[in-house]
Amino acid sequence: MAWQAARRPDGDRLTMDTLGRVLIIVPTYNERENLPAIAERVRAALPEAHLLVADDNSPDGTGEIADALAAADDHVHVLHRPGKQGLGAAYIAGFRWGLDEGYDVLVEMDADGSHQPEELPRLLEALAEGADLAIGSRYVPGGQVLNWPHRRELLSRGANIYTRVMLGLPVRDATAGFRAYRAATLEKVGLADVESQGYCFQVDLTLRAARHGLRVVEVPITFVERTVGKSKMSGKVMSEALWRISLWGVTGLPRRVRGHRD
Ligand code: GDD
Ligand code: MN
Repeated sequence: MAWQAARRPDGDRLTMDTLGRVLIIVPTYNERENLPAIAERVRAALPEAHLLVADDNSPDGTGEIADALAAADDHVHVLHRPGKQGLGAAYIAGFRWGLDEGYDVLVEMDADGSHQPEELPRLLEALAEGADLAIGSRYVPGGQVLNWPHRRELLSRGANIYTRVMLGLPVRDATAGFRAYRAATLEKVGLADVESQGYCFQVDLTLRAARHGLRVVEVPITFVERTVGKSKMSGKVMSEALWRISLWGVTGLPRRVRGHRD
């Protein structure tokens, strides 16, 4: 059965020998207060991995802060993008950069501290155990959300229920933004025709991975709401997710996804 919560291996320490070169991609839009701390935590948690900041020309100067971090550390890189084009577009550009540079594993992580770098090894362990895509999940046993207002949790849970019903995806947290992909996974699913710009990009890639019969594993994580800066969730992001997921649902994709499960 491809869909299962990951076991936590107690023994084997994860090494780059098993997974190859790892790139952590962090998209940023106005995250100047958050970026230095998150970069430091990523570097401490996985010293061999590289970090790519994909900044959409943040008006608050996050791009310049990223440049300063990169100048001081050869494991930090910056992708400057012309303007705010959405989380999905920033990740596609980051994935392309990472694949061109020959990384073997590409990780998605928010800049605001909601995804804890200290949990990165657990995501990578799931890949080392055979997952093609490891999702850091809030909604499997052992996963949780800290400090979210009740209505935001309802929105997120509702979006996940709608996604499961519409798409037949057996994933508890398909909108999660803390995930690790094998390079081969991204090559198989193809990035050229991904049109999702906002947070529904996460559902889009989950669906594509499932459609290709790839092994998607959810790893429980603790999501901690940001303490500084603002969420970029908006009505536009939500309505894009709603119409795209509905469209995917009615175009018959679920049957093909289910066909791959057995
Ligand atoms: N480059 C770029 N461009 N980065 C962006 C953009 C954009 O247009 N929009 C958001 N980001 C960055 C933020 O700066 C942050 O690092 C990360 O993407 C997540 O954005 P938040 O605005 O903090 O997301 P959230 O906390 O509301 O949403 C969380 O939950 C969503 C739904 O479950 C995240 O974990 C999302 O990844 C997730 O899809
Ligand atoms: Mn956030």
